[in-house]
Amino acid sequence: MVLQKDAIKITKVYKKFGNPPKEYWWDQIGKKNAASANHHENGNGHHNTDNNNKRRMVVAVNQVSFDVKEGEIFGVLGPNGSGKSTLIRLMSTLLLPDGGKIEVMGHDLSLEPLTVQKLINRVSVEASFFKKLSPMENLIYGARLYGLSAKETKVRVVEILTRLGLDQHSIYHPMEEMSRGMQQKVAIARALLSRPSILLLDEPTTGLDPVSKREVQAVVRELQELDGTTIVLTTHDMMEADNLCNRIAIIHKGEIIALDTPVELKKLAPPVNGTQPSLEDVFIHLTGTKLQEDAE
Ligand SMILES: Nc1ncnc2c1ncn2[C@@H]1O[C@H](COP(=O)(O)OP(=O)(O)OP(=O)(O)O)[C@@H](O)[C@H]1O
Ligand SMILES: [Mg+2]
Repeated sequence: MVLQKDAIKITKVYKKFGNPPKEYWWDQIGKKNAASANHHENGNGHHNTDNNNKRRMVVAVNQVSFDVKEGEIFGVLGPNGSGKSTLIRLMSTLLLPDGGKIEVMGHDLSLEPLTVQKLINRVSVEASFFKKLSPMENLIYGARLYGLSAKETKVRVVEILTRLGLDQHSIYHPMEEMSRGMQQKVAIARALLSRPSILLLDEPTTGLDPVSKREVQAVVRELQELDGTTIVLTTHDMMEADNLCNRIAIIHKGEIIALDTPVELKKLAPPVNGTQPSLEDVFIHLTGTKLQEDAE
């Protein structure tokens, strides 16, 4: 496979949440002003500024740079709270970066969000549906939001859902009767309605049983092989990243600490009892913690 052109180019992207800590001088000034205003205007003014100060600043994504090549399955592997979802939200225009630049197929995401939205679609870890409605009804609703005609939609919904392995019965029965794996496939199907060239999957297999997990992974592989879709997926499953991804960025506390093919990444840690280290060993080697411990 020849992977050359950049589908996504991320340069020094920075995203924070909350306010800077109190010791920042501008924060101190803001607080003083608010306190005196409250004091003069009424005796029981709101302490919004104080409350805001208590919202500690979190740097969720810190000066992150990487490229995703066209047609690639690119994995973002990291523990809970490492910044995976924030990164996905940034790439899908749901959040704007506080610093740095994101280009999607050559378009600057901050300048041309609408163009980027046509190229990209995202499946969230907690995709929501009308659970009393069937996959067909949910997808028709989704298709309307993408501006597809009703006629075009029905044919396409059946085509996509069948391809992802849903039987005729499931297509027309309430979503609440389906397994989580099936529901996740419907979530992917919904994202495919807009024919994205880039699909962002935020933890597509988290919480699925092993069989459903493999089914969803097969769908991801097929989208790459048959449609040439570029896929960015997040996971904290080392095996999944190893088996599925062409390249993996290991993210830790908002920073990328390693980025390479699974084979090359495994060369970063020393052999364990004479055998090749796993990605878990590499993570421990690089961070000094286990993935699970780090999440806690
Ligand atoms: N909307 C928000 N407001 C404030 N803080 C946030 C917000 N979203 C994320 N954060 C914080 O940013 C950091 C990164 O969160 P993020 O959800 O990107 O991590 P994650 O790697 O997706 O974790 P998980 O594996 O739990 O999904 C965390 O410290 C989180 O608490
Ligand atoms: Mg997340």
